[in-house]
Amino acid sequence: MMAGSVCRDADVLRLEKYEDCLHKLILDLAHVGVLITDRKGDIKYLNPTFAMMFDMDIKTAISKNINDYFPHSKLMRVMETGIPDKAVEFSFKGQSALVNRYPITHQGVTAGGFIEVYFRDIRDLQKLMRKMTNLQKKVIYYKRKSQGLPGASYTFDDIIGQSTVIRKFKKLGMQFARSSIPVLVLGESGAGKELVAHAIHSAGSRSDEPFVRVNCAAIPKDLLESELFGYEEGTFTGAKTGGRVGKFELADKGTIFLDEIGELPLDMQAKLLRVLENGEIQKIGTSDVVYSDFRLIAATNKDLAASVAKGTFREDLYHRLHILVLAIPPLRDRPEDIPLLAQHLLDTTRDKPSNLEITFASEVKQLLQAYPWPGNIRELRNVLTFAVFSLDEGQTEIRLRNLPPYMLENQVMMVTRLKPALSPLNQAREKSEKEALLAALEQTAQNKAQAAKLLGISRNEIYRKMRRYGLLSR
Ligand SMILES: Nc1ncnc2c1ncn2[C@@H]1O[C@H](COP(=O)(O)OP(=O)(O)OP(=O)(O)O)[C@@H](O)[C@H]1O
Ligand SMILES: [Mg+2]
Repeated sequence: MMAGSVCRDADVLRLEKYEDCLHKLILDLAHVGVLITDRKGDIKYLNPTFAMMFDMDIKTAISKNINDYFPHSKLMRVMETGIPDKAVEFSFKGQSALVNRYPITHQGVTAGGFIEVYFRDIRDLQKLMRKMTNLQKKVIYYKRKSQGLPGASYTFDDIIGQSTVIRKFKKLGMQFARSSIPVLVLGESGAGKELVAHAIHSAGSRSDEPFVRVNCAAIPKDLLESELFGYEEGTFTGAKTGGRVGKFELADKGTIFLDEIGELPLDMQAKLLRVLENGEIQKIGTSDVVYSDFRLIAATNKDLAASVAKGTFREDLYHRLHILVLAIPPLRDRPEDIPLLAQHLLDTTRDKPSNLEITFASEVKQLLQAYPWPGNIRELRNVLTFAVFSLDEGQTEIRLRNLPPYMLENQVMMVTRLKPALSPLNQAREKSEKEALLAALEQTAQNKAQAAKLLGISRNEIYRKMRRYGLLSR
């Protein structure tokens, strides 16, 4: 019996054992994963390929039962019925794999079971083998650092807001989260790009895997390459012993978040493009390539198309990234969310002078909703922090005088804006109506009749609306 037998070189030379050993050798070297059990499902043999595929340790596995690794293994049924299970397809570590299960019969009686796992495409196995070596390196790296893999800390539930715009935004974000295609998060300063990147990672299938953030603007240019791609030991003076695992490699199976991607220097853009095209990472100081299966989320507050026009952002990279674009609506476009958001920010501010419940005077609410918030949610948070620290002893309601002076300076301007202003809902409706009109006109090369048809309104109505929004040249 070859399974479980031990073949030493000397045995192979003895003719009577030669055949058994040869069989074992063939199985050991096969690029197909093989596992053999006895009738009870106790594992008698597994080859190194099987062990590698399922992260099993051969020695430990030999004393265990198949159900310890694969609860309710179908092999038990195959042995009971005597009917093999052939070419059953399953998705394995992102690759398409096939499994065969056979009963082993001896003189008409079931003596054991045989499992064979293989990839549709042998190149998938090569990829997996490379990944495994990378993984081992990572384990070493993390043991040394004695810290867990970095993860994401926010979900879509942390994105506060009830407005239609934010609801639509969250819905789209959750849909994007399902794929592994790069997502480009756009948003003004302080709009919550980082929070959104975390949420996308948390909502996707990679949520248990690492979330690795790189701030492209914060890392000095000459360190960025080693940060992203890693280096081999002894590559340059000052390089750490043992080398460095790059962020792309660390993000294997998880997500890499390239924050402020608009700041990425051109030479790094070229390297990033190569990584996106074939998943190959070229470490510094070695000709070996490393593979990483990462999901990319990039964020910027820059107009990347304008950067392309200026020549500071590669057009080919732009097209690689500009697929699933998720634009965070600025705070001023959703004033109806401000009271809720302000309350949430107050409640979650850890550093507060007192634990009393704080409320807002109605004129403060009005002002907060009318202010244009160039610094978005971050600015709102800062304003609220100022306000709570300027409350008098025992005061629990935020008044206008508790807001930072710069907001009060703008107050006159804003109140005049507020008075004749429409309600936020009407404002929002008018804004989107005007946008729809403009889009329809553009699409129809300014043909009003066609644009009206596109919008499902009459010709008279389109003229009326165009006049109202000042779109009709006299
Ligand atoms: N929808 C939201 N609900 C609650 N808090 C939010 C929301 N969006 C952002 N925040 C908070 O606002 C602050 C700014 O968010 P974040 O750092 O993600 O913004 P950013 O777009 O990356 O800004 P910058 O462009 O300046 O880097 C953070 O404190 C974050 O927790
Ligand atoms: Mg940010």
